[in-house]
Order: sequence, then structure tokens, then C-alpha cells
Amino acid sequence: MKFLYPLIFILPLLFFSCQNTNEKKQRKMKSSTNDQTIVEREIEIVLNSDDLMRFDKNMLLVQSGQKITLTLNHTGKMDKSIMGHNFVLLKKDVDVTSFAEKAVLAKNNEYIPEGDEVIVYTKLLGGGESDTITFDAPEKGYYTFLCTFPGHWGLMKGKLVVK
Ligand code: CU
Repeated sequence: MKFLYPLIFILPLLFFSCQNTNEKKQRKMKSSTNDQTIVEREIEIVLNSDDLMRFDKNMLLVQSGQKITLTLNHTGKMDKSIMGHNFVLLKKDVDVTSFAEKAVLAKNNEYIPEGDEVIVYTKLLGGGESDTITFDAPEKGYYTFLCTFPGHWGLMKGKLVVK
């Protein structure tokens, strides 16, 4: 009978240590699912614009390193000569007011002024048209996007937030 005593002490110990391993396993699984969400390499964004001179979003959230596919739709009916819309993403720290003033003068280039202040831009669209562009998310930070058609940027602007 005496030889059974040690077992009585050991068994509960074994039981507890098994439970701990299970808990650890579960935690590990959880964190690997989280990792999967973080490591999403591509993101698709749809931005709509209309005859009322509006984008339907003023904040676009992405993560650094992501490949972004952005589609701009013009859901209105008006011609691009009177209600043209584009999506123009500015580099960090570009002054949006002075940029927009230059853009107005660039009618022959769909209101994209010369220089190196732009990261990426779409075509100028009229009602019913769409354009899709693909680009890599820039480094973390806040970036201004706008429509550079004359008189539009006051209403048609927003931020791309790179986390
Ligand atoms: Cu516009």
C-alpha cells in the first residue's frame, strides 16, 4: 500500500500540467489568427463620387506595406467637362491649397499639375465612368486625397490613413 502514496501526489500534478499545455496551445492559436489579419497583403477600396460633388468616404484606412487597389466610380450623369472627378493622393506635408491652385491651371493634363507632389492619381471621370489604380501603401502617416477639378476640393477631399 505504501508505494501508492507517491502516486496520489503525482497524479494531480500531471493533471494540472496537462491543462496548462492546453491553455498555452489555445493562446498560440489565437495569436496566429490575429497575425493572419495583420498580414493581409492586399486591400480593395471602392470610392464613389456623384453629381452633388461628393466622395462617399472622407477617410480610407490601410496598413503600411499593403498593396492597394482603388476603384473610383462616378455614379452621376453629368459630363466630365462640368462635373469631372478624379482621385489624387498627395505626398505627406504637401500644402493642399497651393497644390489645388496649381491644379486648376493644368486643364490640359486632367488637372494634374507638373511636379513631384503626387503619389498616385486616377483619370478624370464623367458620369457613369470608373477607373481603377493599384499602388503600394506609403509609410505610416496621414495623406490628403482630393478631386482637383476646379472648385471641387473644398468638398471633395479626405485622408488616407496608413497604420
Ligand atoms: Cu470632382
